[in-house]
Amino acid sequence: MSLQGKHIILGVTGSIAAYKSAILTRLLVKKGAEVQTVITPAGKEFITPVTLSALSGRPVISEFFASSNGTWHSHVDLGLWADLMIVAPATASSIGKMANGIADNMLVTTYLSMKAPVFVAPAMDLDMYRHVSTQRNIKKLKSDGVHIIEATEGELASHLEGKGRMEEPENIVAMLEHFFATDHNLDKKKIMITAGPTYERIDPVRFIGNFSSGKMGFALAEECASRGAEVVLITGPTALSASHPNILRVNVESAMEMYDAALKNFPQMDAAILSAAVADYRPEQRSDKKIKRSDKEHYTLSLVSNPDIAASLGKLKKPGQLTIGFALETSDEERNATKKMEEKNLDFIVLNSLNDRGAGFGHDTNKVTILSRHGEKQSFPLKSKNDVAKDIIHTVFHSCLDS
Ligand code: PMT
Repeated sequence: MSLQGKHIILGVTGSIAAYKSAILTRLLVKKGAEVQTVITPAGKEFITPVTLSALSGRPVISEFFASSNGTWHSHVDLGLWADLMIVAPATASSIGKMANGIADNMLVTTYLSMKAPVFVAPAMDLDMYRHVSTQRNIKKLKSDGVHIIEATEGELASHLEGKGRMEEPENIVAMLEHFFATDHNLDKKKIMITAGPTYERIDPVRFIGNFSSGKMGFALAEECASRGAEVVLITGPTALSASHPNILRVNVESAMEMYDAALKNFPQMDAAILSAAVADYRPEQRSDKKIKRSDKEHYTLSLVSNPDIAASLGKLKKPGQLTIGFALETSDEERNATKKMEEKNLDFIVLNSLNDRGAGFGHDTNKVTILSRHGEKQSFPLKSKNDVAKDIIHTVFHSCLDS
């Protein structure tokens, strides 16, 4: 792997770990990258621009203007030039400014103009790192599509032990190489994802629904989009928001609405990932008025079958189009999942079981086994839904891209 010819903006902020940015610059340059350093005023207190410009072979940018001759440093041009921006080390203050758009220095202004993927490697004291404010800002950056390189544990500049050390430059370079090698492998692919629950209205105040939060589907959408795919995310009711600009969100409520949206979009797609928990039945009749409680002991609701979206796409599928389903099981898991894959003409099915703690509805984690129509099987341990999404996309698409 190499970074040959990649244009990388290295943001340096005011942390003791700024000395590592010199090593990082050297390693990036050795891998063939062109490195443009942008440093905050506080960053210059920790490492001199002379060191960084000598290592990168480019003048270091810190101010909006060069004070010697008034040259304007265009953050817009930097945003267009870069293949990637990495802020390492990133202090709590800079992370906060980036998360909240406080563009009072060249580094944050450059970030706000960035068209390329952005990585952030935090470095700070352990109390600052775990402070609710810092964690809120990191979460915000993540939801804005920024890749966070978690701080590591060890001895800190304060002589305290804990989490807050900037990741080692060698590991950061390896991550960036891996990113360029794999993370754009869905460039120009069109992927449709169904997510969340469906609500089947009984009357104006009641519905039949389920406990799906949409987290699994949204994680898949973010993962596909960050790998360069154009994503259509058809989602049932959820409080989640999708942040990546390549995600086109289509809000639906019922299974019928999800079915209509899926069938409309599928002909243009390279693949469909069906992670929604779709209601199999809906009330035969929907009352326009709130149904009143009666004295009767029993109330019977008559239900009719909803169309099966996955099975319908399985019938419409053209050569080259992939469909990937999910199976949420409670017993005889693999057999049931395999049966669903066959009945719905899916290429892959992702099995998750409610018997596994931390898997399925609502959790931030999931534990999946991916089965393919060719009989392959891969099981993964419990992971965050973001990491599960990575595993699914890697497993499913490396085969279709290689073919
Ligand atoms: O949203 P989260 O809280 O993150 O939870 C994630 C999840 C548990 C919902 C997800 O991981 C999952 O398992 N989704 C599928 C749940 C489900 O309804 O499974 P199923 O076995 O009933 O359906 C099998 C497949 O057919 C699924 O791909 C489903 O989307 C699809 N289907 C089902 C019925 C229907 N009418 N149309 C469909 O397309």
